[in-house]
Amino acid sequence: MITYLLIYIAFTNPIIGGYKHIINIDISSVVINQQQKLYPEQEWHIMDVTNMKYADHHFNMVVDKSLIDTLLCYSNSNANTSKMIDEIYRVMAPGSRYITFSLHSLEETIRHFQDDKYKWKVSGFNIKSSRWNEDANRRRAVAHCMIVCDKEPYSPSPLDLQGTHSRTH
Ligand SMILES: C[S@@+](CC[C@H](N)C(=O)[O-])C[C@H]1O[C@@H](n2cnc3c(N)ncnc32)[C@H](O)[C@@H]1O
Repeated sequence: MITYLLIYIAFTNPIIGGYKHIINIDISSVVINQQQKLYPEQEWHIMDVTNMKYADHHFNMVVDKSLIDTLLCYSNSNANTSKMIDEIYRVMAPGSRYITFSLHSLEETIRHFQDDKYKWKVSGFNIKSSRWNEDANRRRAVAHCMIVCDKEPYSPSPLDLQGTHSRTH
């Protein structure tokens, strides 16, 4: 079965790429109860991303939107972010993909994924919103970075992920 772990992207919950079996997690029971009502066809689990209860190599795709931002603001942020990425790496199937969206800058975020212990290819992108302007004070609030990690063994990708790109949409 193709299984897709969505680490709480729930306010605008998409069904990406035709995945049918979608599991969402959040540490907050309030969040999980609210979102379960909106999207009852998906599975919802109250769970700490740094200590997940899933088996190794369980998921074909993992997506996080801004949970990493919360961890980057924790005390002990490096250790907690590292625990999250270790856990996500553990539950990813060989050849699977992990996508994270963050409001932190690409430079601040991508370094957490570029550790030799992870056998994956890392690609980073800046995604500017339509409210982007060149005033440095506004940049953080109107841009996301997207980091894509393709775990070994690599298979031909439908996206041509070559290095770092910027695009406006
Ligand atoms: C910044 S919000 C992101 C919300 C949503 N994804 C969005 O983009 O609108 C971070 C979410 O992470 C959850 N969270 C914080 N620490 C967590 C952890 N250790 N494990 C799982 N979820 C956690 C919070 O409860 C919160 O719902």
